[in-house]
Amino acid sequence: MPDAPVDATTTAAWDTLRAHADGFAPSLRAWFAEDPERVSALTFTSADLHVDLSKSLVTQPVLTSLLTLAEQVGLAERRDAMFAGEHVNATEDRAVLHTALRLPEGSTLEVDGQDVVADVHEVLGRVYAFADEVRSGAWTGATGERIRTVVNIGIGGSDLGPVMAYEALAPYRMDGLECRFISNIDPTDAATTLEGLDPASTLFIVSSKTFGTLETLTNARLCKAWLLEGLAGSDPTEAVAKHFVAVSTALDKVADFGIDPDNAFGFWDWVGGRYSMDSAIGTSLVLAIGPERFAELLAGMHAMDEHFRTTELSRNVPVLMGLLNVWYADFLGAQTHAVLPYSQLMHRFPAYLQQLTMESNGKGVRWDGTAVTAGTGEVWWGEPGTNGQHAFYQLIHQGTRLVPADFIAFANPAYPLQDSVDGESIDVHELFLANFFAQTRALAFGKDSDEPYRVFTGNRPTASIMAPELSPSVLGQLVALYEHITFTQGVIWGIDSFDQWGVELGKQLAQQISPAVSGDESVAAEQDLSTQSLIAYYRKHRR
Ligand code: F6P
Repeated sequence: MPDAPVDATTTAAWDTLRAHADGFAPSLRAWFAEDPERVSALTFTSADLHVDLSKSLVTQPVLTSLLTLAEQVGLAERRDAMFAGEHVNATEDRAVLHTALRLPEGSTLEVDGQDVVADVHEVLGRVYAFADEVRSGAWTGATGERIRTVVNIGIGGSDLGPVMAYEALAPYRMDGLECRFISNIDPTDAATTLEGLDPASTLFIVSSKTFGTLETLTNARLCKAWLLEGLAGSDPTEAVAKHFVAVSTALDKVADFGIDPDNAFGFWDWVGGRYSMDSAIGTSLVLAIGPERFAELLAGMHAMDEHFRTTELSRNVPVLMGLLNVWYADFLGAQTHAVLPYSQLMHRFPAYLQQLTMESNGKGVRWDGTAVTAGTGEVWWGEPGTNGQHAFYQLIHQGTRLVPADFIAFANPAYPLQDSVDGESIDVHELFLANFFAQTRALAFGKDSDEPYRVFTGNRPTASIMAPELSPSVLGQLVALYEHITFTQGVIWGIDSFDQWGVELGKQLAQQISPAVSGDESVAAEQDLSTQSLIAYYRKHRR
């Protein structure tokens, strides 16, 4: 049984925070008026990120108590244990070393007698060499054609990270090589994704940490059948060898599926699925943006790791943001957290963060199996600005719920465009950024009015994150920032942020119910009455 976590709610700091929260009457207007140093005191730099936390609902005494709480639960010690490869994933008895995936070549980190950095760079070298072959056209399909489309087949952590980064880094993609992604077991996904593709120039990457995920294996079989049908004249073994590669920790299962072990890229059980986009799971991204750019992404992640590992807690951005989230969730009653990138390229970032944050911290027991003692994992959600402004911002501005929100923007646009109105040239990115600045200002300071429906109360907390541009390195920094925010919150709550037992029951029941869906009456009869009735509806209406 692992050591019990310190129960945050029994610490002196928790009591102090409770006292701060009692009758807490925030006034960002007053705080800004009284303290001209507030912005500089609450603005931080980590790597290329400029992070302004001055519009948070926090006072110096609250911040000091949050930092004391971090000390009293042993956050720094737990962080150091993670970086050192101790088994902080207690329920699965595993090390948690996604940070090792981005350690520079030549560094060493020995875990259980094995130099993990050497292993990481051996696989990276193979992925890079493979990417170079495909990108140069040296790798050809079974009929000798070069690869023009790469289809990643994976779900959850084996999909969301690569998709998000492929979208975010669109300006860095190679021309003439498109990536598509199949994740859902809804047959529509495979059918529509494959539509219009030429099997002769299509390469599939089957990405699955376990190589046992129903969705991924089903889609992989569908794609294999599609390929073999399309390349009917070719030798099937040769066709699969030239058009299928795999990424997994279970290389034996990859071989059983019929994929040549030479075309498989491994990783390790100390990389969690939702922390794996920088492992070989990122192969589709390496193909799209090239090894050099992928290495920049890794370097950006490493820069944030170093910030998290070495910066004193009071200036440590992931620590501060994680602690503020605990303050909002456990003391001010926030149930959700919005992420609002002012960047169309980041449109899948909120979806990516949903798995990272909610699969990590959506838990009701602590790492020793005891019940949590405070509210845990918020519901994370978001959409890119300015689309969100015309949809749900009404609730954030005037609703009855507290919705802490992270606003993210970049000084330089990926696609600069000028509009022209009455002969005057307008930089559209500047118009876009004006919205970014306006929203956090409106949320913080509000507006008075004699008409109640025109009142904006203000005091709605935001964090503003800016960077010079959305480069691979900056994207890496953002991903690592949120990984460490998630970790910080998990440690305060005593949660194992690296297991995901809550996804198991639904998977098991789907397997068990499946025969009933196909007409097995005895299995149907074993179900509860509602499920029986739903299955009956399906059987009646299925054409
Ligand atoms: O069902 C949840 C999950 O286990 C995630 O944690 C994981 O990212 C996803 O399924 C896919 O798993 P795999 O990479 O093993 O196919």
